[in-house]
Amino acid sequence: MYLSREEEEIYRGDKGETLRRMMEILVALGDIYGAERLVPIRSAQIAGVSYKNIGEAGLEWISDLQGRVVVPSILNPAGMDLCRWMEMGISEEFASRQQATIEAYRKLGVTIDCTCTPYQIYDDLAGQGDHLAWSESSAVSYANSIIGARTNREGGPSALAAALVGKTALYGYHLDENRGPTHSIVVDADLQGSDFGALGFLAGGIVKDGVPQFRLRATPSQDELKALGAAMAASGTVALYYVEDFSHRSVTPKAPSGLEPGQTITLNRKEIEEVYEKYPGSGADIVALGCPHCSREELLAIARLLEGKKVQKELWVCTARKIREKCPDLVATIEASGARVFCDTCMVVSPATEGFRKMMVNSGKALVYLPGLGGVQAGLGSTEECIDAALGRR
Ligand code: F3S
Repeated sequence: MYLSREEEEIYRGDKGETLRRMMEILVALGDIYGAERLVPIRSAQIAGVSYKNIGEAGLEWISDLQGRVVVPSILNPAGMDLCRWMEMGISEEFASRQQATIEAYRKLGVTIDCTCTPYQIYDDLAGQGDHLAWSESSAVSYANSIIGARTNREGGPSALAAALVGKTALYGYHLDENRGPTHSIVVDADLQGSDFGALGFLAGGIVKDGVPQFRLRATPSQDELKALGAAMAASGTVALYYVEDFSHRSVTPKAPSGLEPGQTITLNRKEIEEVYEKYPGSGADIVALGCPHCSREELLAIARLLEGKKVQKELWVCTARKIREKCPDLVATIEASGARVFCDTCMVVSPATEGFRKMMVNSGKALVYLPGLGGVQAGLGSTEECIDAALGRR
């Protein structure tokens, strides 16, 4: 891979040991994937934050690094709400190791926002055509597909390396030639809300690491697109998709011209319904919403459903701390019902869910990850059905 003179100096260690190690990671990835050179990035979103996932070895690795990030950089969800971890049933031992992890990132100049939806709280992290180094799979999908930015699905170390160097290797989804649609998926059904998670669950399983181009009857909301991409990134490894309506009007940024999908698949209402039937929410002892983290609009919908009511079982709502801070009235309405709005974390990356047997969710992504990563069975329902279950109506 070609390196400029300044990049070579970093690679040799002239700018210190941390930058040398970071450049080594970037060059190794570039060589593996055939990158011609490095490219400057606008921002980084760094995974490897939950102490549950990184453990002591990960914490030591981060703590050992020196210097400061040179682009705006934020974090993936941690293993607990950084303020209300006791309410989650998190042990003091875990909390102290998680706080140490956060402090290690803070020392490197990383902004302590722990969220998988950075685009919901900052406008200036990503724009159309920007190169990024983002890690969390649903955020990567949203950045590539809805914002029209360019990022591969970085691992924690490579995203941090990119943040410290300010560049990433130019390969994969950074290049037009890899951004063409591979499958056309015609969805012959009216969809809303969690249906997009169910659709993503199905589509990711079909296209695997491909790039689907959807034709949908109606224009989905930003939250529905967020849910679709998140589920496909979990049941497959989809990092980019396109959406157009039945009159071929683009809902997302367009694919590079001249690249056409090879296969056409049609999905209908029956196939969407089968996902709900296969993974019923009945028998859940906890309900969790906010995978990916809730937007203000989603908190509003949840608050309306809970207003004046009392939950009969645990109901967790996960969001970014900055969203929670912007909507104190909605949070107050939700929490008056006995539900809890947790920040900085989620139902998959926190060890707090391990004491539960079955979780009802409205997310196709959580449906995939909870059994393996969260150690809890999962069932799918709409937001309304999830709230009904929490209220003891189902
Ligand atoms: Fe976000 Fe956790 Fe879901 S990181 S996408 S809420 S699994």
